[in-house]
Amino acid sequence: MNACIRAIVRTACFYGYGVIGIKNGYKGLVNGAFVPLKVGSVGNIIQRGGTMLGSSRSKEFLTKSGRKRAYEFLKAHRVSHLITLGGDGTFRGASIFSKEFPIKVVGVPCTIDNDIGGTDFCIGFDTAVNTAVECIDRIRDTADSHGRVFVIEVMGRNTGHLALETALAVGAEFVVVPEVKFNLKSLIKKIQAGIDRGKSGSIVIVAEAEEPGRAFPISKSIQKFIRRDVRTSILGHLQRGGSPSGRDRNLASRLGSQAVQCLSGGSRQLMVAIKNEKVVVRALGQGIKIRRRAELSNLKLIHILSV
Ligand code: F6P
Repeated sequence: MNACIRAIVRTACFYGYGVIGIKNGYKGLVNGAFVPLKVGSVGNIIQRGGTMLGSSRSKEFLTKSGRKRAYEFLKAHRVSHLITLGGDGTFRGASIFSKEFPIKVVGVPCTIDNDIGGTDFCIGFDTAVNTAVECIDRIRDTADSHGRVFVIEVMGRNTGHLALETALAVGAEFVVVPEVKFNLKSLIKKIQAGIDRGKSGSIVIVAEAEEPGRAFPISKSIQKFIRRDVRTSILGHLQRGGSPSGRDRNLASRLGSQAVQCLSGGSRQLMVAIKNEKVVVRALGQGIKIRRRAELSNLKLIHILSV
């Protein structure tokens, strides 16, 4: 997000707009926590994880009175355009807000869940995959040296994007995603086949889905059938921090800059996106109407490659 904030501020300054940063997302909008941003305010942040402005999940913004308060603050600061960075909740909030009040919004898809519609990638996803891969490569050392089965849970809320991409990259034996009904029998069969073939360790990736911690009961079930030690690892918020990948920084720079460039158009509700490597501008509704679907063909590939 920092790389994106940098791109927004610098592009806006380039085109002569004034920029105000809002601290802690919608919470800051409701409380008028505004900070003026200049070219120099965003120096030395492109490589930093998190966001210099802070983030939050605001309950107040979910209410009409909260949004009205937010609008009053924007009006008082003579703000007419809002660029919002975030996932599904952020997009929905922006859409409702700009329907209720005369504020133009541009949404920038930023979520490690990678589930915003209308874009091939969301900012943060690539870094989260790389972080998970790095962690799991390390875990594999123990899996191999101790002959263990590791069940590793990754984030992604109710989508399997992060789990599938990570599982393919680490050569996992099996991946459990919310889009497909979990089948313990197939999982046991796969792990046992690997053991019979002389494999030293096995990696199972589990998407957290709607119940973070679900890797534990899955591990327990595996342990009942497999005569090897089974261990569980939950990567959790590790995946949400750290220095962004080069790919994410560039995506953030391109989308952030484009978000400013489309402010001058007539449309009230837009989003920026990446489609076939090209930056595109779409109606904001496209981001939320249809969730981006996980690439389930990767399931078969993961199965074929991890014999
Ligand atoms: O939506 C991004 C995400 O990281 C999900 O993958 C995860 O389920 C959730 O946020 C965690 O949210 P919180 O930090 O509020 O627990």
